[in-house]
Amino acid sequence: MISLTAILLSTLLYRSAHAGTTIWSGSFNAYPNVSVFDEWSWSNEVGEYQWYIHGSQPTSHYLALDPSYKNPADTTEANGLKLTIDSTATWNSDMERTELIPQTTANLGTGELYYHFSVMHSATNPPNSAYEHQITFFESHFTELKYGVSPNATYLEWMIQSQPQWGTPFTPGTWYNFAYDIDFSAGTVGLWASTGSDPLTRVMPNTAASTSTNSEDWHLGVLRLVQGSDTEDWYFSGVYIESGPVTTSVGSGSSGGVSSSSITASSTSVSSSTASVSPISTTSVAGPTQTQYGQCGGTGWTGPTMCASPFTCVPVSPPYYSQCQ
Ligand SMILES: *[C@@H]1O[C@H](CO)[C@@H](O)[C@H](O)[C@H]1NC(C)=O
Ligand SMILES: *[C@@H]1O[C@H](CO)[C@@H](O)[C@H](O)[C@H]1NC(C)=O
Repeated sequence: MISLTAILLSTLLYRSAHAGTTIWSGSFNAYPNVSVFDEWSWSNEVGEYQWYIHGSQPTSHYLALDPSYKNPADTTEANGLKLTIDSTATWNSDMERTELIPQTTANLGTGELYYHFSVMHSATNPPNSAYEHQITFFESHFTELKYGVSPNATYLEWMIQSQPQWGTPFTPGTWYNFAYDIDFSAGTVGLWASTGSDPLTRVMPNTAASTSTNSEDWHLGVLRLVQGSDTEDWYFSGVYIESGPVTTSVGSGSSGGVSSSSITASSTSVSSSTASVSPISTTSVAGPTQTQYGQCGGTGWTGPTMCASPFTCVPVSPPYYSQCQ
């Protein structure tokens, strides 16, 4: 039996995780190790990501997961992703590329949506600014980040229709947090950005763009236009897409966490006075069930905790992540 109170509480708990509503989570919590990316194929569309744009080597050559690979401000994710391109990373062309695509039945191209991600590089295997790089781009390139574009070759540059709009020096060891503010109805795109643990602020207003996506053409990753032998490591975390209003806090927004102290269910412990908020514990509130390979528990998780039959909720990466299997 699901009481009305339970439904309301469940809704409030879910909403409290974000200012907006997450319509697709690209949290790497769904991946206890990188082999799990290989479970996806065109005939077995499981998990959060399509994984087919990569070079000839095994997945572990191009992707790695580790706590040190995420923005440390993100307390809700177990790991960040290290993504590598090198001379073996050619796919379908002479370009070198390692890219993940959302796997979802959600419509990622309707209304006003915020595409969130954080990106970093370190002093080891840094990107070569002599080559143009396309980062977190749409197939039509209506918006994207680029690196290695003259005259600001060492900047991360935000583009609309391949025209630079805004840029920031891409400093090793600094996490850059972004949300593309895409109004698919109005045909505009704007940018929210911050570094480290700072909340996102609007850095560019929404401007006309040919906004469109088939929900399978946002490339989380990097394409290097000119072939080189350099090995480059890129780091990503905090990936999710929400409908507005935009969540500005970094980390507590990405895969859960609590930004509101208005919820005082007995199982929650909220510290509203600091930016780092105690995770909400998994509640026993009845609600929707989760599908196979979907998240069903773990630190900060406020979504469904019950699995659709015949799957059970398995703590695959305790205490961070439980998955329906
Ligand atoms: C990766 O994780 C999956 C799911 O938990 C597990 O079945 C598999 O054995 C793991 N593979 C490696 C190489 O650790
Ligand atoms: C390029 O760099 C200059 C400073 O050298 C800066 O004023 C300008 O805003 C930058 N443009 C972009 C699009 O990053």
